[in-house]
Amino acid sequence: MRGSTVRLVVAAAGAAAVVAGAMVRSAAQNPAPAPTFNRHVAPIVFANCVPCHRPGGVAPFSLLSYDEAQPHAEAIEVMVRERAMPPWYADPAFGEFKNARALTQAQIDTIVAWADAGAPEGDGRPPDPPRFEQTGWRMSRAPDLVLDLPFGEFQLPPQGEVPTFTVWMKLPLRDDRWVQAIEMRPSVRGAVHHSSISLAPDLPLGTRLGRAPVFTGGPVLDGVPVYDDGRPFRTATAEAFGMPIMFYVPGGGFMQFADGLAKRFGRDDWVTWGLHLISPGRPDTVRVQIGLWYARREPHHEVKTWTVNQTVLVDGKAIVPDANGRRAMPDIPAGASSWAVTGTLKVEEDITIHAMWPHMHYRGKDMRFVVTQPNGRQETILNVPHYNPHWQIMYELARPLGVRRGSTITAYGHYDNSAANPHNPDPGVPVRFGPQGTDEMFIPFLEVTVDDEDLRFERQQELLGIGRP
Ligand code: HEC
Repeated sequence: MRGSTVRLVVAAAGAAAVVAGAMVRSAAQNPAPAPTFNRHVAPIVFANCVPCHRPGGVAPFSLLSYDEAQPHAEAIEVMVRERAMPPWYADPAFGEFKNARALTQAQIDTIVAWADAGAPEGDGRPPDPPRFEQTGWRMSRAPDLVLDLPFGEFQLPPQGEVPTFTVWMKLPLRDDRWVQAIEMRPSVRGAVHHSSISLAPDLPLGTRLGRAPVFTGGPVLDGVPVYDDGRPFRTATAEAFGMPIMFYVPGGGFMQFADGLAKRFGRDDWVTWGLHLISPGRPDTVRVQIGLWYARREPHHEVKTWTVNQTVLVDGKAIVPDANGRRAMPDIPAGASSWAVTGTLKVEEDITIHAMWPHMHYRGKDMRFVVTQPNGRQETILNVPHYNPHWQIMYELARPLGVRRGSTITAYGHYDNSAANPHNPDPGVPVRFGPQGTDEMFIPFLEVTVDDEDLRFERQQELLGIGRP
């Protein structure tokens, strides 16, 4: 429902643009020959679209050949003109990103002119499309370890959403592992609305791993922590337990770090796996797998996921955590079009930021990350002016950014709970902060390394039998 509204709006804007384009062209004296697929469009599409638009890719159709692309020419034109495809939401004025996917204006103009001219194939042959390994994973080699849901498959209802739930599993590791790439992959595209994994040092206090309803009234499955009296443990948010590792939405679910950087998966760690599943509109079962690729060489730094919400201000007022660390965030009023939430993080050690990753739900409107140095100098390191809840993108800096101790990182977010927000499922209700898809979240994620925590130095100390100072 929501998706189709968006599409209608975009299509209408595109149709108007097509008419305007046609008028401009008929006025031109010597129109340049129209671009063709084989010569002009294929190189752009092969470089920018087919990593997702290919058989087995995350996108719903393939663009690997003229015959596959031509029927979508009009939609392609609209999506590239609106800069809705390839999905990328960073303001180009701030920061350079190594995973940037945006097309240049010249590339957009080429595709638009091609579609307006009736999407001609052209003479000759297109360049060879890139080859993709048929492992089904995005890395060219198969994962070193695959994690499955503790209960294997989940039976989806014939329609509707499954309430968010979290399951736990012990990592099947004999030693700690350095993980350089992670991918989460559901067997049914569209059945996983979102999912998150974190690593926790232990099960919740007083519980053991058991079988219980995964949510109140839900199916009885493995992977639920239960108390001695059989009561299942219920989490408010998966993020509250341990270190967040990955947040998946369709089209995302993949992260890979540069050589020398990796995440630590401890042999004693537990995976807490949060899932929000939705029916694909028919009864079906879904499997979800996580592929882990180990670093080939010992890394020099551990990548940690931090969040910029040590202190949180809502509409200018500080929200102080209670004894359990929970913050009573006020609801976003119905209709509020620019509800401000600001988070800050005081940096106590010299760190290096590798990536940023704004996380909000359907009312998310924008988010900006700013570093304030001890001398007061401020720099915007990421600005996402039009947040899209369907694309949880990790923005990876082209050059990792050193931040000195004493600096402050601030994340400025806004929420639009009005009818003007095309993603808003219900502008008529106030929205609380919480774990469900219909609740809101404010999580400005950072992927950082702590400069002093040099693993090479620590290994050397260990070899020499010297403990950490
Ligand atoms: C990162 C993966 C990814 C890349 C890169 C990508 N797409 Fe997509 N595309 C998707 C997914 C997933 C969808 C399904 C709709 C959605 O989730 O937004 C989609 C949908 C579309 C649609 C259908 C829109 C609609 O709803 O009618 C078009 C057209 C499209 N993409 C064109 C392109 C073109 C052209 C490029 C390259 C310039 C491109 N895409 C690059 C993932 C991608």
